[in-house]
Amino acid sequence: MDISQAQIPQQHRYVTLLDAMRLTWVSGSKEPQGVQYADGKTLTSTVTTFSQDDMCTSALPSPAKDFGWHDPGFIHSAVMTGLSHSTAYSYRYGSDSVGWSDKIQFRTPPAGGSDELKFLAFGDMGKAPLDPSAEHYIQPGSLSVIKAMTDEVESGNVDSIFHIGDISYATGFLVEWDFFLHLISRPASQVSYMTAIGNHERDYVDSGSVYVTPDSGGECGVAYETYFPMPTPAKDKPWYSIEQGPVHFTVISTEHDWTANSEQYEWMKKDMSSVDRSKTPWLIFTGHRPMYSSTDGLFTIDDKFTKAVEPLLVQYKADMVLFGHVHNYERTCSVYESNCLAMPTKDRNGIDTYDHSNYSAPVQAVIGMAGFSLDKFSEPGSWSLKRISEFGYLRGHATREEINLEFVDSNARQVQDSFRITKGQN
Ligand SMILES: [Fe+2]
Repeated sequence: MDISQAQIPQQHRYVTLLDAMRLTWVSGSKEPQGVQYADGKTLTSTVTTFSQDDMCTSALPSPAKDFGWHDPGFIHSAVMTGLSHSTAYSYRYGSDSVGWSDKIQFRTPPAGGSDELKFLAFGDMGKAPLDPSAEHYIQPGSLSVIKAMTDEVESGNVDSIFHIGDISYATGFLVEWDFFLHLISRPASQVSYMTAIGNHERDYVDSGSVYVTPDSGGECGVAYETYFPMPTPAKDKPWYSIEQGPVHFTVISTEHDWTANSEQYEWMKKDMSSVDRSKTPWLIFTGHRPMYSSTDGLFTIDDKFTKAVEPLLVQYKADMVLFGHVHNYERTCSVYESNCLAMPTKDRNGIDTYDHSNYSAPVQAVIGMAGFSLDKFSEPGSWSLKRISEFGYLRGHATREEINLEFVDSNARQVQDSFRITKGQN
């Protein structure tokens, strides 16, 4: 590969910022490049990178700072402004000297407060090689999920995607971010791709993570935050909220202090208490580690997290709570303190329907089944209503009156679980 070839931009994707969309791509060249979009607008990229010195380590040597290091090149980013919501635009990025990308079509997500949103959500996807080559950490379900998700996006049926932690599993072997970004670039260049941080992006011994594990391989969130610049308050404070259609999404980091009176805890309270339900009737709360799972394991559930944060969910009437980390799909009753405060009823099509005009507690779901080797279930909790150990993703369709949620098996391309949350008349 010659130098000019190596400088051709390789990856691209979007995140949403109000009426703006951030486009991010990776290139071998540090010279600012351009974005041409919306028939005649142009932008110049801002360019960043990270270095081996930014990786962390401790008494336990990390791959990121040592044999796993790989120069990431340069991460280019540009925010396209003045866009209308729910509108298709085309763009290309690059420069005359390094070359231009193909023309790509993307669709902006619906405005916060508008009537409808179609989204996909999942955790723990990672990547797998497309040929028989080896990577240090392979997530066997990722290719089928990415393929099914790409087909959904390209059928025009998806407004936005939420990937809630354990993103690439590069875990200190930094070249594997490139493999991952390459795999997701088709769907992620066409619709909004929002993320939450997981243990495999952030945790390391003596690094300030809540959990003292070596799970990020010494990346300590630096690679993740550079590749996925979300609208967060500051560096290493990876929590934010976003409104799309009739849904307010509160996105937290389970890997950063969430204890009472911590900065993140205060932010959660402020964010959820300020949701204008006449504008966005639905509140979806999401992060990486779950509060409820029927999969036993050493690090599956942290009771301290549940005790600290679950009361806020009920107090501020979160409708739906989505977590990953456990590698299967599980759905609860309207649960609080491990008790079912309400049960869904079957609608005329036999679909479980939660009536939130008479709110008691949120529905919680584990959706960490998007790639990593699947986990088996142990004895189910009394709050557990549905358990599926297959690769796939959650498909959501929200209107002002109801949210329909489906678990899609990405291999069979079949809906294996359906439920609805309604407000007002069913
Ligand atoms: Fe995880």
